[in-house]
Amino acid sequence: MSFKEKIDISKLPKHIAIIMDGNGRWAKQRGEHRVVGHQHGVTSVREAVEAAAEIGVQYLTLYAFSTENWNRPKEEVMALMQLLVSTINNEVKTLNENDIRLQAIGDLASLPPDCLAELKEAMKATASNKRMNLVLALSYSSRWEIINAVKQIAMDIEKAKLSAVDITEKVFESQLCTAGFPEPELMIRTSGEHRISNFLLWQLSYAELYFTDKLWPDFRKEDLFEAIVDYQSRERRFGKTSEQLV
Ligand code: IPE
Ligand code: IPE
Ligand code: MG
Repeated sequence: MSFKEKIDISKLPKHIAIIMDGNGRWAKQRGEHRVVGHQHGVTSVREAVEAAAEIGVQYLTLYAFSTENWNRPKEEVMALMQLLVSTINNEVKTLNENDIRLQAIGDLASLPPDCLAELKEAMKATASNKRMNLVLALSYSSRWEIINAVKQIAMDIEKAKLSAVDITEKVFESQLCTAGFPEPELMIRTSGEHRISNFLLWQLSYAELYFTDKLWPDFRKEDLFEAIVDYQSRERRFGKTSEQLV
């Protein structure tokens, strides 16, 4: 029985977030340059998107480039940005055919102009698609996002649009890049690293974390399905006792 067949469609996570890690190591194992790993990672992105859309996941957020990744060697950063531009360009047609909307979170203004232009065009071209939301985290870090939200709220208070006593979780969330998205119920990280690396710190508060040793370029549809089956075997208690859940 495949993992896909084992999935209970009535208990599907609405939102899955993935830290796509291990491209560099994948390339190194083959004696290739790190960039080759990133290039092969694009196939895995396609697989994850198709798999999620096939079963009816509503939001798929992919961590593609962190704020901290700007500190990598210049050639690697440039290659990643180029890859981003060409991938988005190549995939828009498929996204439209599959009714998938492209969105992005992060400090998008810091992206190179050609990259930002390509991204904006693709988001516009897919804006009315309804089947699934594909969210790319680009130049994203959760601390940056949280500080940004705090600044926005402080400015609203300065302008007397808001009172400090009225700050609620809902108000705070409305200032995050993910405003309006459901919280991820499942977060997957590949490559055997067991950390969050500044990804969706607020939003992952109650997410189920799933780690696999597979390197991102080896990740395929069945790997996503396997993670979902594992997620569905967990008891999500949200602070309550097991007995309270029945
Ligand atoms: C993930 O793979 C891709 C990005 C962070 C852009 P890495 O490039 O981090 O690969 P490793 O972790 O060095 O193997
Ligand atoms: C996290 O991976 C960022 C992305 C996958 C885009 P990293 O490879 O940059 O994370 P660290 O440095 O191992 O924590
Ligand atoms: Mg890494």
